[in-house]
Amino acid sequence: MNPDYLQKLEEAEKFAAEKYERIKHTPHRLGFHITPPANWINDPNGLIQYKGEYHVFYQYHPFIEEWGPMYWGHVKSSDLVHWKHLPVALAPFEDYDKDGCFSGSAVEEKGELVLIYTGNVWLKNDPNELIQVQCIARSKDGIHFEKDKANPVLKELPIGASNHFRDPKVWKENDKWYMVLGNKESEKGKVLLYQSSDLMQWDYIGILAENKGENLGFMWECPDFFKLDGKHVLLISPEGMEAEGENYRNLKQSGYFVGEFNDSGYRHGHFQELDKGHDFYAVQTFEDEQGRRLLFGWMDMWEQEMPTKKDGWAGALTLPRELELRADGKLIMKPVKELEKLRMDQAAVLEEIFVEGENTLAFGEMLEMKAEFSLTETSAEEFGLKMRCGETEETVIIYNKLSRKLVLDREKSGAGPKEVRSAAVKTVDDKLVLHIYLDRSSIEVFANGGETVMTSRIYPGIESQGVKVFATGGKVKVNSLRIWNLEDIWAEK
Ligand code: FRU
Repeated sequence: MNPDYLQKLEEAEKFAAEKYERIKHTPHRLGFHITPPANWINDPNGLIQYKGEYHVFYQYHPFIEEWGPMYWGHVKSSDLVHWKHLPVALAPFEDYDKDGCFSGSAVEEKGELVLIYTGNVWLKNDPNELIQVQCIARSKDGIHFEKDKANPVLKELPIGASNHFRDPKVWKENDKWYMVLGNKESEKGKVLLYQSSDLMQWDYIGILAENKGENLGFMWECPDFFKLDGKHVLLISPEGMEAEGENYRNLKQSGYFVGEFNDSGYRHGHFQELDKGHDFYAVQTFEDEQGRRLLFGWMDMWEQEMPTKKDGWAGALTLPRELELRADGKLIMKPVKELEKLRMDQAAVLEEIFVEGENTLAFGEMLEMKAEFSLTETSAEEFGLKMRCGETEETVIIYNKLSRKLVLDREKSGAGPKEVRSAAVKTVDDKLVLHIYLDRSSIEVFANGGETVMTSRIYPGIESQGVKVFATGGKVKVNSLRIWNLEDIWAEK
């Protein structure tokens, strides 16, 4: 490998590792999520289970806490719970990727771990004046990657496609490789489909799906296409959708279509948002060796205030989630079962009690909570859980019995962006089940088995650690409630 390139990788590695030593104990540092050693990350990339181990790469700028020329950071795990940082996998260097190794995916070919990514080159100081091409890097050990001499392996744009041509997601089906790419035409997002027999020569098949003039945005980033429970699901991350009521309230969205794919193309239903919280974008999935379809997202949002920048880092990935397609065409996201390994001691246990007003249950900043409420026996208009409670701070999950809506309120969460998000939750047997993962600066709420999910960053003061159950306008019946303290996977042992 070119010694100047190796030096560039080493510089990035060393710089971030040194900074990590200075910032690792800052208060909002996440305890059980994938975060960079230091500085900036965005999209999850290259998700794969390779030789039994889970690998996750991510968009990484190792030098400052802001987006910049993109590198690929890398972690791996044998259990989806305990992650280990590995050397930086890719650095921008060649003429075709000198301004960034943008998002992409990973596959295994002939025993090698192969990354397929977008090489980005700016032509002027204008985000639309750019060249984006698709490139390949290979590794025999799953740690050190060599860019292919034939790069870029795809650079010609199909007729009508704009030069925003990025985020290759590659998979194998019937001995052929397929790739979807994000694109746009006349300010409307679309996804392009390609086929290859060797990952090197790509043939354009056509447009897989596109915005035909609806409220679906001007660019579709990070496409992903897979079969799940007999249907074809297309995930996209559109830029430029307008908010509609409680939908699409973030600057950018991640969502999906469900449909049928055959020789006559992809026929699909309407776009549905995946997560109703504030911070969830650029999701990617992969199939693991157990045949599960697993998803990671970026647990932040573009152009948001990120208070951890002052501590020398910015960005994290969501917990791994398992996807299921329900018969009514809704994608369900559940935290993977392995996450139970994080549980340490129980911080609270309640069974069969009624609560009126407010009860403090526990204290903590890294917790898992599982609560089941009986709606038939509840007279309260609103009830729920408050966490990271201090003198003036609280983050509140509210269920409104009349509107049947779940609300995530971070108006008083502490530093950082505020605002509430709300979403309908379908209830079964008149029960509401809340499954919550709280980390030092994040909350992920899975309601009724992943039927409604909300993911948000919060930045409370270190002293705000109370957890409460509450009910207003009557009593809430708690069938059961359990809280566990969780392990800090990054702590030195
Ligand atoms: C999505 C995205 C991708 C791009 C990457 C650059 O968040 O804009 O389209 O490849 O981030 O970091």
